Amino acid sequence: MDQRGIHGEWASRWIFILAATGSAVGLGNIWKFPYMTGENGGGAFVLVYLICIALIGIPVMMAEVLIGRRGRMSPINSMRYVTKEAGLPRGWIGIGWMGVVAGLMIMAFYSVVAGWALRYVWTTGTGSLTGMEAAAIGEQFSALLADPKQLFLWHSVFALMTATVVALGVERGLGSAAKLMMPLLFASLIILVIYGMFHGDFASGFHFLFDFEVKRLTWDSVLKALGHAFFTLSLGMGAIMAYGAYMPANASIGKTIITVGILDTVVALTAGLAIFPLVFANPPLQPSAGPGLLFVSLPIAFSSMPFGDIFGTIFFVLITLAAWTSSVSLIEPGVAWMVESKKFRRAPATFLLTGISWLLGITCVLSFNALAEFKPWFLLFKTPFDFLDFMTSQLMLPLGGLFIAVFVGWFMNKQIVERELNAEGHALFDAWHFVVKFISPVLVGLVMVLTLIDSF
Ligand code: PFF
Repeated sequence: MDQRGIHGEWASRWIFILAATGSAVGLGNIWKFPYMTGENGGGAFVLVYLICIALIGIPVMMAEVLIGRRGRMSPINSMRYVTKEAGLPRGWIGIGWMGVVAGLMIMAFYSVVAGWALRYVWTTGTGSLTGMEAAAIGEQFSALLADPKQLFLWHSVFALMTATVVALGVERGLGSAAKLMMPLLFASLIILVIYGMFHGDFASGFHFLFDFEVKRLTWDSVLKALGHAFFTLSLGMGAIMAYGAYMPANASIGKTIITVGILDTVVALTAGLAIFPLVFANPPLQPSAGPGLLFVSLPIAFSSMPFGDIFGTIFFVLITLAAWTSSVSLIEPGVAWMVESKKFRRAPATFLLTGISWLLGITCVLSFNALAEFKPWFLLFKTPFDFLDFMTSQLMLPLGGLFIAVFVGWFMNKQIVERELNAEGHALFDAWHFVVKFISPVLVGLVMVLTLIDSF
């Protein structure tokens, strides 16, 4: 059942780390984490998020990668393999299916936001922000959202960029892109934090991120922190399972995934430390500005700062790169499945699936203008953009993660799991197994149930 040859394999453990970190680090870290932290009261939200990463995210991520490497195929077929091996009903394969669908749903809105970043690379790069009034910059973002043609254009450019890399395959596409872009991304983030230290209100930014005010937490914000832990680690939808399938057999899953989890968390916190000092140094700006936080407050900060155009451009290039190495992992699970099971060649499969997401993305483009008031009951009274974000981050990914934890903790042969993790006799194996079997599923289930009760 060894299908390594079909899709290829990462050239080394480090390429896997870069690719998986590339998938994890994305708009989630740089766009979503700061604005969610801002909307949910700062430090307390950050603390819950960190607990979720440590107690649920990283252990479940190891479980997901291990299924991928055991099955060595797309999430759907890897699930098929391990389900059969464990003698379980075929329904478990649904985890793989839900992942493929969730990937296409995320890509639909992800590509629209990445399109905003592309547009701002253009705006800052041409120097048009310099000396602009704060109000005018705010209006510029609103004008962008109100213009479906522009949004559509940049959404399409980003979808095409994504498809190009996926079509090139695991080694030449995904692997090389990660190798090239991830170091650049780390470097530009460091430059920006240093910039923020000198030109922003670093102390206020720091306190906002790390002072806990427990009373600001609601069950809803706990669920958001949990959902975000899944989103930011690319967890619960097979992306990381697919990447695990291309992992060399002798690489240690435990160490590798802990590295990825830590890198992802460090990038999110660093992005917060780059952004909030700038927000607080420019008093009219509010941390709770919502999804526009990054796209309004930062250009305002950059417009009035020395070399703001240059740093602004670096920042938006950084966001685009981060989004790019993530978006490819949203399409990959479905593509791998079509190549394996439907005898597609990689390129047509890629363009077909990216095309479906791109079409769905048009509803997200329109969510900011023509369809802004379209919040029907079947979208749970949300715009298509908000609905897709809600369904995936807060429902499908946590559920996917819950099922993966239950599957590995309760139904997979413990010896196989131990061997696949290269953890024979390792002192921490039993602790990890306990967490995946009891702690993670109970916590995810509890948070979901309590939020449901809370919302009535
Ligand atoms: N982890 C990515 C981010 O933080 O931007 C988003 C993401 C990518 C989610 C891939 C899920 C996924 F499968």
